[in-house]
Amino acid sequence: MVSIKNFSFTYQEFEKPEELSTSDRELVFAARKIAQKAYAPYSKFKVGAAIRLTSGLIITGANVENAAFPSGICAERSALSNSVSNHHTDNPTTIAIAAMTEDGLTDDPVPPCGNCRQVIAEEEFRTGNKIRMILSGEKKIFIVESISTLLPLQFNKMNLNVNLP
Ligand code: THU
Repeated sequence: MVSIKNFSFTYQEFEKPEELSTSDRELVFAARKIAQKAYAPYSKFKVGAAIRLTSGLIITGANVENAAFPSGICAERSALSNSVSNHHTDNPTTIAIAAMTEDGLTDDPVPPCGNCRQVIAEEEFRTGNKIRMILSGEKKIFIVESISTLLPLQFNKMNLNVNLP
């Protein structure tokens, strides 16, 4: 017997940072700023991620590429490695992403790649808190209330059936 399942999610769309809360706007600007520090000589696509921790602290990261292409790391995972390593108990609440090409900030919001979705979703599991995503572009900004909505049917530790912390 076949049954059809459906997945849908809602997100907010804004036109400019001025429409965001002060805290979210600050996070978008932090992501834009750190994008300038990216090491992206191969793609010339510089990405910045800024994580707001529960304490209010902002942790940032940029993409770092490598001549051996798969050895590079995305901005989101770069920032998350920093926050998990150095602020283990100060949980992420929101992650803002921004990117620039040689022509400046992208017009469209930059969505996290599949690898980063998986890694951020694990962080939701680890901390037990939802992580909001602010995907920012020059012309549009999307806010998603939880990374898990961007990763339906996600593979996680429950599938491994192991009792890890
Ligand atoms: N990139 C990120 O840093 N984050 C994303 O979510 C998408 C892609 C980086 C990886 C690579 O250095 C460059 O952007 C082009 O794919």
